[in-house]
Amino acid sequence: MTTCLVTGGAGFIGSHLSQRLLGSGHRVLIVDDLSTGRDDNLATFRDHPGLECVRGSVEDPQLVAELVDRADVVYHLAAAVGVALIARQPIQTIERNIFPTKLILERLGLRASRGEAVPCFIASTSEVYGKNPKEVWCEEDDLVFGATTKPRWSYGVSKAIDEFLALAFHQQLGVPVVIGRFFNVVGPRQTGAYGMVLPRFVEAALAGRPLVVHDDGRQVRCFAHVDDVVEGVVRLIETPAAAGRVYNIGSDQPVSILELAQRVIARVNPQATIEFQSYSAAYDESFEDIRRRVPDLTRVRSAIGYRTTRGLDEIIDSVAAALRR
Ligand SMILES: NC(=O)c1ccc[n+]([C@@H]2O[C@H](COP(=O)([O-])OP(=O)(O)OC[C@H]3O[C@@H](n4cnc5c(N)ncnc54)[C@H](O)[C@@H]3O)[C@@H](O)[C@H]2O)c1
Repeated sequence: MTTCLVTGGAGFIGSHLSQRLLGSGHRVLIVDDLSTGRDDNLATFRDHPGLECVRGSVEDPQLVAELVDRADVVYHLAAAVGVALIARQPIQTIERNIFPTKLILERLGLRASRGEAVPCFIASTSEVYGKNPKEVWCEEDDLVFGATTKPRWSYGVSKAIDEFLALAFHQQLGVPVVIGRFFNVVGPRQTGAYGMVLPRFVEAALAGRPLVVHDDGRQVRCFAHVDDVVEGVVRLIETPAAAGRVYNIGSDQPVSILELAQRVIARVNPQATIEFQSYSAAYDESFEDIRRRVPDLTRVRSAIGYRTTRGLDEIIDSVAAALRR
């Protein structure tokens, strides 16, 4: 039985990943400080005999050393996440996203130097492409960030530093890292509290409040169900040839945010209405958004035969069912 360390395991994606790993017979060691994660996310599998949860921070070097030394595989998902959170807490975003990744990789580097090659998945994001104007983004494309006076870019830049660090530890010390750039992952347990659009829309529709669409709603995104993404993550880490590379993971089916709002209304509450709000009212004057975010999934498809199994309507229904419960 392998022991999988999942940082951020009480979060949205981390809890689904932990559940999937337990279901395949692995032991799972979760570390989470519950900053944005919730104990409730573990409710359906908390009593599983293969699960151990540690409440603590991956910014604690002693704790990271102890936990990484116990792991056969590391999934590093803990991070400061969400456009709204990042706008409010730019210092924490930068610190939380860079320092722990370095601590984990250093410990894995030490183990690699003793001949122990421990696979490590690093959760990155489509935000690293910044505002690259291409229609579809592939892994070798340029990263195009805005000015440092606009805090929103600190999230993508901090994750890009994580990627550089991970690739450097792979190249210099042979740590088998896999980097996954997630594109809008959605599903049950995701909270709208930090600016995530789908739970925000579904919560509003269920409560009979207007769905607040930022700007003109013509921003384009692709939404993937968390189960499909988690499957991709596990298959990548189980594929030795995937190590040392970066992979887009998500859906490549584009939808505008306005259309998403209309689809949520049609499926959840046809009485609900749409209200438009400017970015300056939602965030501040400096806010800059990304108009279009669509991944090229060729690399992940050829590496592991990755595919998505859930369409947008099924995803909306699953989010609404979870929120109703
Ligand atoms: N959800 C998405 O659409 C999406 C898109 C791109 C990238 N990602 C990445 O996926 C990962 C998981 O995101 P999520 O959507 O599940 O968010 P989440 O906020 O639900 O999960 C993050 C978890 O990390 C924990 N955490 C944060 N800092 C910590 C620390 N210092 N020590 C211990 N635990 C800490 C939080 O409490 C939370 O449980 C993140 O790395 C994020 O950047 C997510």
